[in-house]
Amino acid sequence: MRPAESSSTTPASPSRFDVVVVGGGVIGLSVAWRAAARGLSVAVVDPAPGSGASHAAAGMLAPVSEVTYTEEPLLGLGLTSLARWPAFAAELARESGQELDLRREGTLDVAFGADDLAALGELGAFMEKLGLPVERLTGRECRRLEPMLAPSVRGGLLAPDDAWVDPRRVTRALRRALAGRGVPVLRERAAEILVAGDTVTGVRLASSPGTTADVRPAFSGALDTAADARPSPDTAADVRPAPGPDTAARVVNAGCVVLAAGAWAGGLAGVPEGVLPPVRPVKGQIMRLRSAVPVLSRCVRGTVHGSPVYLVPRGDGELVVGATQEELGFDTRITAGGLWELLRDARELVPGVTELEVADVVAGLRPGTPDNLPLIGPTGLPGLHLATGHHRSGVLLAPLTADLVVDGLTGAADPGHPCSPSRFEDRA
Ligand code: GLY
Repeated sequence: MRPAESSSTTPASPSRFDVVVVGGGVIGLSVAWRAAARGLSVAVVDPAPGSGASHAAAGMLAPVSEVTYTEEPLLGLGLTSLARWPAFAAELARESGQELDLRREGTLDVAFGADDLAALGELGAFMEKLGLPVERLTGRECRRLEPMLAPSVRGGLLAPDDAWVDPRRVTRALRRALAGRGVPVLRERAAEILVAGDTVTGVRLASSPGTTADVRPAFSGALDTAADARPSPDTAADVRPAPGPDTAARVVNAGCVVLAAGAWAGGLAGVPEGVLPPVRPVKGQIMRLRSAVPVLSRCVRGTVHGSPVYLVPRGDGELVVGATQEELGFDTRITAGGLWELLRDARELVPGVTELEVADVVAGLRPGTPDNLPLIGPTGLPGLHLATGHHRSGVLLAPLTADLVVDGLTGAADPGHPCSPSRFEDRA
């Protein structure tokens, strides 16, 4: 597909788009934004944009402190995408007029028990072997950086290049930027990918928005909503009426479809069996605590007798505590046990958290894949592209994913890329 001239006011075709993106989370919205910036006419379809995993995410841009044994390819993707975040955020903030709360003070990974310290020491050796920038710190040095840490914290690893961002601000900014470019974000459910011959022709919308669960069940899990009750552009109001398809016809015609529906991407009708992405939901419960003054100055993560927890500070004093990792299918219930485990471990590392007000608790579903790498790029079904399977790294990988998808849409995809969906299609 040849992009038209780049323009900030690309007019969308009312009858046929170059691209329709199914899924309005941080990935789908980023793809739509970058595709529109390249001159493609784009529409996004999502019944509740920004309400899924992106709404729950803590927003850690932390490829170094989240590195895991045997997952060096994911580390490489994360480092590449992290390097793109500052320019992505600056451009998005400029275009949307929204601040994203991107912060780059690093992550401090701390150990509670002797067992945790031994495991952290081994992880540090692994990181050093990979040439990653990390500093080993004593417990006292950790507390010098973060005075609210418990006296019992025994030591830590500082990953100074890790960063973080507020994903809710990011999705809000992306929706603003899309509105500014005339990209319609349709609050509809995608029911089916339409195919003629062997080529994608668009998306059929569910017969009546809000009544079927073809792609995404109704979001549940937000207990409070104080944060969301604030007047915010992250409401329907920011989706400006834009030229769009005649949704009465319940079809959005497009030359390409990008499936960016997160954990729901594996269940869309019309996609041939061998092409359906092998994604599964991995539940994460997370809570937001409110403080008048910031409790931490950087991301703190740690293990308490092997149980992991992280604490992510926002500029407004909010502290995000996460996250559980549960394989329970499409279950977004908030459980007493999940919250208890988070608070139990967070309190061991930062005792003051128990004084803070609970602002919000949410459960989101990460899209997991069999090899923990995302699925990005063209599929074996001409015109169908994937942008899903980001598991724990959706926010981190958004800039890279958007670039890779746009490469694929404009015929420049690298078929040998580690994220190419073909790795599973071949198997099928
Ligand atoms: N990246 C953090 C999480 O998925 O919980």
